[in-house]
Amino acid sequence: MPLLAFETSCDETSAAVVHHGRVLSNIISSQISMHAEYGGVVPELAAREHLRNLLPVARAALRDAQVTADQLEAVAATQGPGLPSALMVGLKAAQAVAFALHRPFLGIHHHEAHLYSPWIKGHPPVADFSELRPNVSLIVSGGHTLLVHVRAELEHQVLGSTVDDAAGECFDKTGKLMGLPYPAGPEIDRLAEGGNPKAYDFPRPMIDEPNSDFSFSGLKTSVRYFLRDHPGLLDDAQKVRDLCASVQAATVDVLVAKTVRAARRLGVHWVTMSGGVSRNGALRRELAAACGRAGLTLRLADPSLCADNAAMIGVLAERKLARRAGETSADGDIRPNWAMEAT
Ligand code: KG4
Ligand code: ZN
Repeated sequence: MPLLAFETSCDETSAAVVHHGRVLSNIISSQISMHAEYGGVVPELAAREHLRNLLPVARAALRDAQVTADQLEAVAATQGPGLPSALMVGLKAAQAVAFALHRPFLGIHHHEAHLYSPWIKGHPPVADFSELRPNVSLIVSGGHTLLVHVRAELEHQVLGSTVDDAAGECFDKTGKLMGLPYPAGPEIDRLAEGGNPKAYDFPRPMIDEPNSDFSFSGLKTSVRYFLRDHPGLLDDAQKVRDLCASVQAATVDVLVAKTVRAARRLGVHWVTMSGGVSRNGALRRELAAACGRAGLTLRLADPSLCADNAAMIGVLAERKLARRAGETSADGDIRPNWAMEAT
């Protein structure tokens, strides 16, 4: 029987229906335009918007999947990490639905769900989720940047994460310095296509350190100083494109080098990537090229599943339910700072 899942950890209100690892529907209502005027996600506004959107999004997910509530086997939601007030909306709604239908409830770890999104629908295609292979997974978004060793289904260990800003946050903050609209990541990606990535030399923080941690706040600071030392540069469209390409190259180089090195050190043959920043053109190209050189197979999440979505929450919940490995407490609380435990 199908499972209904909610995701409301940040600024995407999403509901999905999944069945046997297949995504029957995955509705995502993004709030990005609402937060753009503030230059970042405003937690209280996000929560209010989730409250307004969740029921219509859930109804649309059921309708698209052609499933009625009484046909559901279980209900799941992101329990953490994320913005407390935003998490609260999806989690409490899912628990209420589960309680009303007398169905099990599963609270899902947001990052753990990202680990499996490249196996739901991605490239190269897989017949189903059971084709998962031991891999190193790069989760890269506005809120998180982490490398995880996935040994098998539901068995993983975090290798490292960012010690300060996430990679997407670095794109967004450097873009803001350049006067680009929020979120700047997609715009930097677009402008960088016409720029020279070697035009300006920016630091590659922690690239040679023998660990899997990242740091991006220094890169943002060096862009600030660069702009101070090059007044008027932002008036030259080609120089802006070169700047975008150069900043993007510094970020991509670090992400690619550390991911490939971790995979080689652990002896795995697969690398996966998900999260909003995994839509970045240069990152996809460079990671594919580096994996090719290292004899690694890269699985990229389908663009529809890169950013936050309820389908990945539902698919993981279904696997947990099948293995009786899920949290089934219908009155559990949100876990905004939930660290991903080794399993
Ligand atoms: O996963 P996501 O939708 O939300 C969370 O942060 O959890 O990721 C959003 C982030 C933003 O920082 C945005 O600038 C970045 O992903 N992003 C990109 C691209 N598309 C989205 N960064 C670089 N290149 C892109 N094409
Ligand atoms: Zn995410």
